[in-house]
This record gives sequence, structure tokens and C-alpha cells, in this order.
Amino acid sequence: MQTTERPIGIFDSGIGGLSVVKEVQRVLPAERLVYFGDTARLPYGTKSKETVVRFSREIVRFLLQFRVKAIVVACHTASSFSLAALQREFDLPIVGVVHPGAEEALRTTRTGRIGILGTRSTIQSGSYQREIKRLNPRTKIFSQSCPLFVPLVEEGHLMDAIAYQVAEKYLRPLKRLHVDTVLLGCTHYPLLKRVIHDVLGEGVRLVDSSHETAEHLKRLLEKDRLVSLNGHPSRRCQFYVSDEPNRFSKVGSVLLRGRIHSVKKVSL
Ligand code: DGL
Repeated sequence: MQTTERPIGIFDSGIGGLSVVKEVQRVLPAERLVYFGDTARLPYGTKSKETVVRFSREIVRFLLQFRVKAIVVACHTASSFSLAALQREFDLPIVGVVHPGAEEALRTTRTGRIGILGTRSTIQSGSYQREIKRLNPRTKIFSQSCPLFVPLVEEGHLMDAIAYQVAEKYLRPLKRLHVDTVLLGCTHYPLLKRVIHDVLGEGVRLVDSSHETAEHLKRLLEKDRLVSLNGHPSRRCQFYVSDEPNRFSKVGSVLLRGRIHSVKKVSL
């Protein structure tokens, strides 16, 4: 098979990376995709760098079995901890979500005061803080880890009183710091967008890196002449998970606004 016609691999710790799948399908509709959600080992956001790098390596090796032409690390924690190692170790284009998210936040802010929300691991890694400062050293960055947001989403508390209460606790300090842009630095957080928006108020713009990540991937494929030339039936994606597939299939169908035909369980 010609390199251009090979699929693109996308992975996350679970279901959150489907927001990136959705954008890649929109921006690159002719591409075939293979998605892996590490549902057996989620959450990544509470784990050490060493563990997340090991998991990420195993997933890349799994995706390479499909002869993927490029890989998207659609998880902020895995991008923060393992992107550099993966890019060093594997000989194919690998993109993460941190650089595109940082660029989008800088394009959005007017005052240069940016808040970053993420898992404990993402915030502790300092990845966003470093990337934003590298791109614009004059920016003021305020970060906040939100460890209860992932379990809230997993349990379906997307807009109820519990979600508002937790969001108030995490976001109150940011409100006092007068940020004008808040980056949702975790693939689960866009699902709490409504609540986060309500708590932060009208004046604060929320940035989600999935669209910019898809655009970044497109530019990279164009540069390396890897864009599919033949065109495949649109929205073709194979899904794999490391734990029971039914829940993924159900929630995933809602996120992608369509049926996910088959989700297979595999062990790495
Ligand atoms: N997917 C992870 C991220 O984007 C969040 C969920 C987890 O902790 O595994 O950081």
C-alpha cells in the first residue's frame, strides 16, 4: 500500500480523544483512522511520567501494526509526558495537543492573562506553561489542576449541581486573577464546557485544542506529502480499547453524533 493511503493512529487514555477524532474527520475527511482508548488503565492524569511514557510506547507499537503513517497523541497528559520521547524513538510524524493548544490560547487572549486547567500530572509537568512562555514570554499564566473533573465526566455529571459545586471550587481562584482566556488542557474538560463557562462568566473565552491539533496534523501531512490521494469513504475509523467496549461505544456514539460500528477489546 502507498504510504499516503495508510491510516492515521490516534490515542487517548479513554474516550476524551474522540473530540480530536471528530475534528480530524472534519479537517481531513478522506483519511482512514485507527483509534485506541486505554480504558483499562485510565486515568493517566494521576500517574507518574515513567508510567505514562511506558503506556504511550506500548500504544504506539500497537498502532504501528496497522502501518499507520502518522500518530496523534490525543491526550494532554500523554502529550505532556511522552511526546518528546515518542518523537525521538519512533520514525514517523507524531503530533500532540499541547503545542496546538498553546498557539490557540495565544491567538485568543487579548490581555495576555491565560488560565490553564488540566490533570494534576499535566499541570505538574509544566508543559503548557513552558510552551506558552516559549511562544510569548510576556504572557502571564495561571494554572489549576482539576482532579475531580475526569471522574465527574466519567460518571455523567456534566451539568448538575455537583458539577457546578466542583467547578466553583477550582475556578474561583482563576476568576480573582482576571484571566481572559482559559485553556481546557484535558480531553475530558470540553464536556464540562457549559459549567466552566457559567462559572467563569461571559468575559472569559474557553480554548479547546482539538480543532487546532487537526489543523496542525493537516499541515504536517501536507509538508511530508502524506495526505491521502485516493480518498476513502469519509468517517472511516476503527476503534480499539483495552477494557469492555460497550460503554465506550455508547458514550462515543453520542460524542461523534453517529454510530460507532465496532469497538474491539485488545490487550497490549
Ligand atoms: N485524557 C486525559 C488528558 O487529556 C485525561 C483523562 C485521564 O486522566 O486519563 O489529560
